Amino acid sequence: MPALVLLGAQWGDEGKGKATDLLGGSVDYVVRYQGGNNAGHTVVVGDQKYALHLLPSGILSPGCTPVIGNGVVVDPSVLFSELSGLNERGVDTSKLLISGNAHIITPYNVTVDKVTERFLGKRKIGTTGRGIGPTYADKINRVGIRVQDLYDESILTQKVEAALDAKNQMLTKLYNRRAIAVGQVVEELLGYADKLAPYVADTVLVLNQALDDDKVVLFEGGQGTLLDIDHGTYPFVTSSNPTAGGACTGAGVGPTKISRVIGILKAYTTRVGAGPFPTELFDEDGEALRRIGGERGVTTGRDRRCGWFDAVIARYATRVNGLTDFFLTKLDVLTGWEQIPVCVAYEIDGKRVEELPYSQSDFHHAKPVYEMLPGWSEDISKAKSFSELPKNAQAYVKALEEMSGAPISAIGVGPGRDETIEINSFL
Ligand code: GDP
Ligand code: IMO
Ligand code: MG
Repeated sequence: MPALVLLGAQWGDEGKGKATDLLGGSVDYVVRYQGGNNAGHTVVVGDQKYALHLLPSGILSPGCTPVIGNGVVVDPSVLFSELSGLNERGVDTSKLLISGNAHIITPYNVTVDKVTERFLGKRKIGTTGRGIGPTYADKINRVGIRVQDLYDESILTQKVEAALDAKNQMLTKLYNRRAIAVGQVVEELLGYADKLAPYVADTVLVLNQALDDDKVVLFEGGQGTLLDIDHGTYPFVTSSNPTAGGACTGAGVGPTKISRVIGILKAYTTRVGAGPFPTELFDEDGEALRRIGGERGVTTGRDRRCGWFDAVIARYATRVNGLTDFFLTKLDVLTGWEQIPVCVAYEIDGKRVEELPYSQSDFHHAKPVYEMLPGWSEDISKAKSFSELPKNAQAYVKALEEMSGAPISAIGVGPGRDETIEINSFL
């Protein structure tokens, strides 16, 4: 019953798509358990590059069944455009399964996301504008629309009415916007029902039966640990639980079934959107990381904020996720620096702090304490084993491993599937 969780150990964009795709060939199911099309997962297969947003990265592996779990929020228009984009490129998507309990991102949720961000002004979160927060808010407020609601027009109408009641008051009276008509929304949503029907399934049952039958199930997180609504840098977070526990609630699988939790960890740090980021660089080094690492958002096209590796965050990710392994990505990007600073602790109000402070104000004041590690200049993109890496690159990996609290079981040295050094097998 091997069930693996693969998740972001930092602020997202660690290379989860590549890692999932790499394992996709050996697993039976790849499951998204939270988030929605705020994710942007890049997968490079040969000379082909795919950008996936809502679909699990396992969709590119022919033997693998991709699953959208109950914890995901689904924008049907995005779903169908992503599916048809893949079909046009010859990818078979017919095995996809979508939970009937997954919530739908409605057009009004997208509107609310955009207007609330605009009204926050300087205090905005910098969301992806995809309606993620408002859709999860509706879910918690018990006025959400689920996939299964598309198959009962009367229930759907009542639910859209309930959801729009307060929203229209807010849109018209507070935000000076036009009200949204219930009928129009219902008609649009019903328009997806037939097309969606072949994919809708009781995914909780399917996945638990698969585990009972000794199939391999991989849970693919979107976003990252520090963007988690409970464990991230609140309020500068997304509205779901990318951390390991989210796989249980977001897919309906008990924690006793999870055998391995793999944290995807970039060899430096990036962040998109607002919020604290102690090792952020505003100098030429930051610019170089952005340029060499191609650090531009897959979903929104925004430049990613870049900084040095932060071991305090990695240790925190190990703790809150119970990580068994790390997959270190983008080591190749660091080639060429004479010395590489690594943040080993913070200084907060004159005191050295080894662990992530729970207080938001303290974290906003955290200054990185750096240790300098010697760099390397050799091209490492062709390395196939750990011993083929230059000594200083090996030492960098070993130092990160020691500081981060879990073994580094794979190393990415380029975006392609085969540009990976496997140290310990994940399966
Ligand atoms: P995700 O959201 O975690 O799936 O990550 P993104 O796809 O948003 O961003 C990671 C980027 O780094 C993508 O462009 C990947 O193709 C690329 N990438 C992943 N692993 C490596 C690696 O080891 N080296 C290099 N150079 N690029 C990588
Ligand atoms: P992947 O899966 C990086 C960030 C947004 C914003 C905050 C809230 O590609 O790693 P939201 O639209 O979710 O309400 O925005 O979260 N964010 C991401 N940052 N990678 C992502 O996904 C992200 N998804 C959301 O930039 O700061
Ligand atoms: Mg991404």
